[in-house]
Amino acid sequence: MIPHSKPTLNKEEALAVVDVINSGYVSQGKVVERFESDMARYIGVKGGVAVNSGTAALHLSLIALGIKEGDDVAIPSYICPALLNAVNYTGARPLLIDINPDSYNISPADLKKKLTKKTRAVIVPHIFGLPADIKDILSIGIPVIEDCAQSVGASYKDKKAGSFGHCAIFSFYATKVMTTGEGGMVVSNSDKILENIRDLREYDHKANYIIRYNYKMTDMQAALGISQLKRLDSFISRRREIANLYNNRFSNLGIAIPKVYPESEHIYFRYVIRRNPPLSPFTKGGMKVGLEEDLKFFEDNGVKCMRPVFKPIHRYLTPPPSPPSQGGDKWGGGFPETDRVWNELISIPIYPSLSNDEVKKILKVAEKWWRIKIE
Ligand SMILES: Cc1ncc(COP(=O)(O)O)c(C=O)c1O
Repeated sequence: MIPHSKPTLNKEEALAVVDVINSGYVSQGKVVERFESDMARYIGVKGGVAVNSGTAALHLSLIALGIKEGDDVAIPSYICPALLNAVNYTGARPLLIDINPDSYNISPADLKKKLTKKTRAVIVPHIFGLPADIKDILSIGIPVIEDCAQSVGASYKDKKAGSFGHCAIFSFYATKVMTTGEGGMVVSNSDKILENIRDLREYDHKANYIIRYNYKMTDMQAALGISQLKRLDSFISRRREIANLYNNRFSNLGIAIPKVYPESEHIYFRYVIRRNPPLSPFTKGGMKVGLEEDLKFFEDNGVKCMRPVFKPIHRYLTPPPSPPSQGGDKWGGGFPETDRVWNELISIPIYPSLSNDEVKKILKVAEKWWRIKIE
């Protein structure tokens, strides 16, 4: 079975971690500091503060922007629940926004429409490695946290994603573009935000008491991060190479491929294909069947594919109590693009360690799947 995702790790990285262990200093120290400055330089911002997850990075970013109970924070519905958790940790209210149906990123038009007087921040993920329309969102004038958990190394108008917002967060979870096992970072050009987050990530040896956290990264993780960052550009090149192979073959077959935006440089954290339209639904014995069936087809043929977002956020929540004013579903038609995309997108394996033979196999299985569909 070709796995859906896999970290790219080597012996030198293992040795870098061993060096930290041999030094006898394994918690947050000088290696973390170096990882922070290496990342800040790579992204092109003033500084970074490493933490133990992308979720912790989001949580501390929200606190540093002064978010509290009574505030609204806008987030897209089509994303993992980490964003919902981070907003809920602060006591603020999540304000869910629909997506652009072609880029899958948060829709600036829907954001403008749903904005409330209490909206104090927006979290903008650059989903699947493709930068969102960040300039348009910044022009609204509310503080922006860029969520680069899926897009480290991507760029927008020749500047790295993560250098536009008030601050930006990264995740270094095992299957992300670069990894420290678990881990995260906040980067910013604001000394005030960076100092605040540096203070909040650890609780000991403080003159005063306020609620602080234990969100520290260890030097062992940072050693891995430093090595992965050195290889990041080569990881991205390989991802783009594989995406090109997919694009070429799929365009010839008529499978819809990811849309290209001239201002955005995609890093293909995920490569997604749409099962619908122009596809007719997968049919079995004359019956229409859903996306689960497509995923099963790939799995039965040795390729693990997944929904790129397990479940949209609005589907975890209780719908608003008022009767739907428009649209057909219990959400009043509030997230039509999110719902449609959720039912249509299939994420196929893409990562630097995929061999050319594995890529060929994936293409072969995808072609077989497609031919059955268009029969
Ligand atoms: C867009 C986005 N934001 C935040 C996170 C949270 O990161 P972590 O798992 O490191 O807490 C993820 C992780 O999957 C993510 O995809």
